[in-house]
Amino acid sequence: MQELGIYLHWPFCKSKCPYCDFFSRVDKKIDQDDIISNYLRQLSEYRSLIGTYHIKSVFFGGGTPSLIKPENIAKILGKIDELWGLDASAEISLEANPNTNTPDLFAGLRSAGINRLSLGVQSFNDDELKFLGRTHNSTQALKAIEDMQKNFTNCSIDLMYALPNQTVHSWQKQLQQACRLGLKHISLYQLTIEDGTVFAHKKIQPLEENKASELYLLTEDFLQQFGLHKYEVSNYAASGFQSRHNLIYWQGGEYIGIGQSAHGRLKLNNKWFAQTDNLQLDALTLKERAEELIIMGLRLTEGINKTQFKAICGLDFDNFINQDFLASAVAQGLLCNNTSHLLATRNGFLLLDKLIEGLCC
Ligand SMILES: C[S@@+](CC[C@H](N)C(=O)[O-])C[C@H]1O[C@@H](n2cnc3c(N)ncnc32)[C@H](O)[C@@H]1O
Ligand code: SF4
Repeated sequence: MQELGIYLHWPFCKSKCPYCDFFSRVDKKIDQDDIISNYLRQLSEYRSLIGTYHIKSVFFGGGTPSLIKPENIAKILGKIDELWGLDASAEISLEANPNTNTPDLFAGLRSAGINRLSLGVQSFNDDELKFLGRTHNSTQALKAIEDMQKNFTNCSIDLMYALPNQTVHSWQKQLQQACRLGLKHISLYQLTIEDGTVFAHKKIQPLEENKASELYLLTEDFLQQFGLHKYEVSNYAASGFQSRHNLIYWQGGEYIGIGQSAHGRLKLNNKWFAQTDNLQLDALTLKERAEELIIMGLRLTEGINKTQFKAICGLDFDNFINQDFLASAVAQGLLCNNTSHLLATRNGFLLLDKLIEGLCC
C-alpha cells in the first residue's frame, strides 16, 4: 500500500520570537474545540478524496503544538486511526516548547499517542536565550529535557547557532552539553535573519559567512564522535533515530498538511499535486516536481537516488540536470556523482543553494 505522512499545523505560541517567520500568532483566547473539530472534519474529507494509505507518520508542528491539550491530540490520532488505521510502526511526533512544560504534560502527550518529541531548546546559555527572546532559561530547558527523556526514547532537541559574535569555543560548549545528555537526534539551525521579523527590523547582522561555515564543519566532526551522524543539512541522528516524517519530505514521498499555512504533496491518478489548506490541489508539472526532488534530495547526506527520482517524477535524472554545471561542480569537489546517487560533498554542503540552482538551470 502507498505510504502517507500527515502534518498538522498548530499556529499559536505563548509569545513570538524575534527571529521567527513561521506562521504563528499569540492568541490568549483560543477555542481549541473549534479548531480541533475543523481538523477532524478535514481529515475525513481527505480520506474521501485520497482513499486508503498506510500511515507512516503523523507530525504536530507549529507554532507551538505542545499547547494542544493531550485529550485533543488523542482525538486527532483516534480519528486518523478510524479513517486509515494507525499501527505501532507509525512515527507520531510533536514539537514542544520548554515554556509549555508543566509537570504532567509530557506523560500526557505520551498517553495520548505521541511517540517522538522534538524540543525547541535553542541554547543552553541564558544570555543567548535572552537575545533570542525565548521565555525559558537554561535551567528550564534542562528540566524539560529531563522530563522528555523520562517519557520518550525517541526524542530530539533544536539548537540555534551562528548567532552574532558566537565563537567556536561557545558553540563547542553548547554541543558538549547536548552530547552529555545522550540525545539520539539533534536539529541544528544556523540563525537566518528573515524579512518582516523583529531581528530584520533591528538590522541584526548574522555571523559572518566564513565563521558560520567553520561552525558548521566543526559541528559535523564533533557530533560524529558521539555517534550522531549528519543525515540532512541540519539534522544529526544515532542509527535508527532519523526523523521518518521529515525523510518523507526529503525523499519525495506523499503527505498531507492540515492547518492554515500547511501544505502537502500527493500523487493522484498518476499526477502530482501541491496541496494547501482546505483540500486545495494544484497540479505540478513534471519539471516542477523534478526540481523539488533535487532541492529536497540534495539536503540529504545520502543525496538523490536516481532510480527513485525516475520512479517519482518519471524523468531521467541524468538527462534532467545541467551536465556542464555538474562536471564543473564535481571537478571543484562540491558534488559526488556515481551511477546510483548524486550527493553533496562536505564542502558542497556549504554551497547547497548555488549547487541546486546550477543543476536545475
Ligand atoms: C517551528 S519551530 C518549532 C519549535 C517551537 N515552536 C519552539 O520554538 O520551541 C522550529 C525550529 O525552527 C528554528 N528556527 C525558527 N526560526 C529560525 C531562524 N530564523 N533561524 C534559524 N532557525 C530558526 C528553531 O530552532 C525552532 O525550534
Ligand atoms: S520559534 Fe517557535 S515559539 Fe518562537 S515564535 Fe516561532 S514557532 Fe513560536
